[in-house]
Amino acid sequence: MDKATLALLVGGRSERMGQDKGLLPVRGKPLVLRQISRLKPLFQNILIICSSLEQKKQYEKLSEYRVICDDSGNDHAAYYGLICALKNSPTQKVVVLPVDAIGVDVALLKKLLSSHPFPAAYDGTPFPSVWLKEHLHHWTADERSILNLLKELSFTELKSTACEDKLLKVNLNTPEDVRAYFGEPVQDAWGRQLNYLRLSITENCNMACRYCLPQGFPGWESAKALLSFEGISNILQAFRSLGFEKVRFTGGEPSLHPNLLPAITEARSLGYETISLTTNGSYIRNCSSLVEAGLTHINISLDTIHERTFFKITGNKHFSKVLALIDQALELKMNVRINTVVLRTQNFHEISDLLEWAKQRPLTLRFIELMPTNLHQAYFKENWVSNEEVQRMARSLGYEPSSKLDGLEPAGPALLYDHPQSPCRLGFISPLSCNFCSRCNRLRVTAQGKLRLCLFSENDLALPLQESPEVLAKTIRALLVEKQEGHILAQGHMGNVAHFRGIGG
Ligand code: 5AD
Repeated sequence: MDKATLALLVGGRSERMGQDKGLLPVRGKPLVLRQISRLKPLFQNILIICSSLEQKKQYEKLSEYRVICDDSGNDHAAYYGLICALKNSPTQKVVVLPVDAIGVDVALLKKLLSSHPFPAAYDGTPFPSVWLKEHLHHWTADERSILNLLKELSFTELKSTACEDKLLKVNLNTPEDVRAYFGEPVQDAWGRQLNYLRLSITENCNMACRYCLPQGFPGWESAKALLSFEGISNILQAFRSLGFEKVRFTGGEPSLHPNLLPAITEARSLGYETISLTTNGSYIRNCSSLVEAGLTHINISLDTIHERTFFKITGNKHFSKVLALIDQALELKMNVRINTVVLRTQNFHEISDLLEWAKQRPLTLRFIELMPTNLHQAYFKENWVSNEEVQRMARSLGYEPSSKLDGLEPAGPALLYDHPQSPCRLGFISPLSCNFCSRCNRLRVTAQGKLRLCLFSENDLALPLQESPEVLAKTIRALLVEKQEGHILAQGHMGNVAHFRGIGG
C-alpha cells in the first residue's frame, strides 16, 4: 500500500448532548484514540482536525499526533476539515474520516485506497474518502458541499456490500450509542475483562494429527457441521452485546463448515474488530474471499517444513497446499501466524529447518507446548518438550525477547522474540512451563453449542441457542461467574479433554 495520511475529523457538530464525540469514552479510552489504534497500521501519518482552539488544546493533551484547527468556527466543519487536511498532509494521498465513523474498518479503507482514480468514496457518501493534495486547486470559497466537490471531480464511486453499508452507517453521538455498539463489557469473578470469543463451528476434520485426533474423523466428508448458521449468528450477537471485540473461528477444521464465509461476514457487520481463523490450511482454496468477507488474521498449523514428517504427523499429503495457502495469505498482507507443536520424537530434530524457512517471511512462528489430553497420555510423555529448549535454540540464532508489544494481543499468551535482520517473529506459548491464566480474556463455545469456561474445564455448560441473543447473553453473563482462576494442568488435571476436536485448542 502506498504512503497515505489519515485525517480524522473531530470538529463540527460534536457538542451534541454536551459531549465531544472524539472524547466519548469507550472502555475508558477516548474514541479518538481507539480509532487511531485500530487504523494506524494502514497509514504513514495521522492528523487530527478540529474546529476550535479549545478543542485543539484538549486533543493535544490526549495524543502525540498533530492536531490542527480548521478555523471554521464549527460551521460546515467537515468541508473545511477536508481542505485543512489536504493543505497539511505530508503525503500526496489523504483519507478523510469523521472520528465517530467507527464501523469503517481496515478492510473498507484498504478497498478505498486501492481503487482509482481519486477522489474515491462509497455510494454517494462523502466519508470515508480518499483525496490527493492537488485536489485543493478545485476548491472554491463559496462551495460547501463535499458531495458536489466529489461529483465535480468525477470521483470513483465504490459500491458497498450489504455488510459494508451497515458499517458505513454507524456513527456515535452519545454514550448510549457507544453502549449499543460496543456492548456492556463483562468481567469474571477474578476481575479479568473477557473480550475474546473462540468459537468452534464444527468438529469435522480432514486431518489426523497425532497430538489432536490420531484416528482422524471417519466420514468427515459427509458429516454434518454441528453449529447452524443461525446458532453462530445468535452466539456472535450475544457475545458482541457483552463487549466482545475479538472472535476466532476454530474447529475441528472450520473451513469444512459450509457457512464459514457468511459467519465471517456476520462477525464483521456486528462490529467485531479482530476476526481470525485457526486452520490446518488444506481445504481453503481462496483466501482472498475470506479477507473480503472481513477476516483479519489467520493461524495456520504447520509442524514441519519436510513433507515426510508432515505426513507422519498429520496422516495426509496436503503439505504443498498448506505452504501455498501461507504464501497466498502473505501476498494478501494478512496477519499470518503459524502454529507449531514441538514433538520430541517427531519434529524436534528439524526445528532449525522450520526456523530457517520462516526467517525470510513476515509472519509469526508460534511454538506451542504439547498439551496432554486424556486420549494420548503415553504420546504426551514421550513427546513433550519445554519451550525453554526452543527458546535457547532461537537465542543462539540471534532472536531476542521482543521489546515491542504484539499489536493483536497485547495481553495474549505468547512470549515474543524478534530478530534484528528478519521480518519473522517468534511466539512461545507454554501452557505447562509458563501458564498464562492470570491474563485470560477468553471464553469458548464448543461445536456442540456449549459454553466452555476454560480449555481444561470439567464440564461444558448448556446455552439456550434457540432463544434471542438477549436471553443468550444473560445466560452467558450468569454462567461466567463460575470461571476458575486457572487450570491445574501442571498437576496433571486436564478436565475432560479427550481431544481438541470440538474446541479448537
Ligand atoms: N497440544 C498442543 N496444541 C494442540 N493443538 C491441538 N492439539 C494440541 C495439543 N494436544 C493446537 C495446535 C494446532 C491447533 C489447531 O490446535 O496448535 O495447530
